[in-house]
Amino acid sequence: MPVQIGQKPGHDFSRPLGLLSDCHRRIERFLAVMAKVATAGALDEDRRNALDAALRYFREAAPKHTADEEESLFPRLREVETARAELGDLERLEADHDRADRLHAEADALGMAWLQDGALPADRAARFREIAADLAELYRAHIDIEDNRLFPLAARLLPMETQQEIGREMAARRIAR
Ligand SMILES: [Fe+2]
Ligand SMILES: [Fe+2]
Repeated sequence: MPVQIGQKPGHDFSRPLGLLSDCHRRIERFLAVMAKVATAGALDEDRRNALDAALRYFREAAPKHTADEEESLFPRLREVETARAELGDLERLEADHDRADRLHAEADALGMAWLQDGALPADRAARFREIAADLAELYRAHIDIEDNRLFPLAARLLPMETQQEIGREMAARRIAR
């Protein structure tokens, strides 16, 4: 199974909202890898490498994306009076992040055991498939709200200087951690 990793993002830190959407494309790509590996059965070398890369992405890189949103973007939107009508979305999105975190933690434990042992007992393999499907469904709706409602709203309401600050914080998160 060919898996692309380390693909260059389409935006840089001067366009943080575009960069956040670029991350969504990576999330979708690695979710598709997880789903494909989960349903493929035995791990050959390609699937092993693909699974390892997907688990690592969700363990190491994806939490920075969540921090970009929860620590840099959402607080700025909450400060904007005219964004208040949309704030229900922010709470829903934060709840999604928490649920995704729990599912990823469980997927990571199962996936690491799979990599280590070369096989998973049937019930644990079934649970891994179920989690991959749940995550795909969760992110489909979540990313739709972010890409199509929240980021356009942020682009409209947040001054360019604020967007630049968000970009600087995102850059720092990737150097410091
Ligand atoms: Fe996101
Ligand atoms: Fe999000």
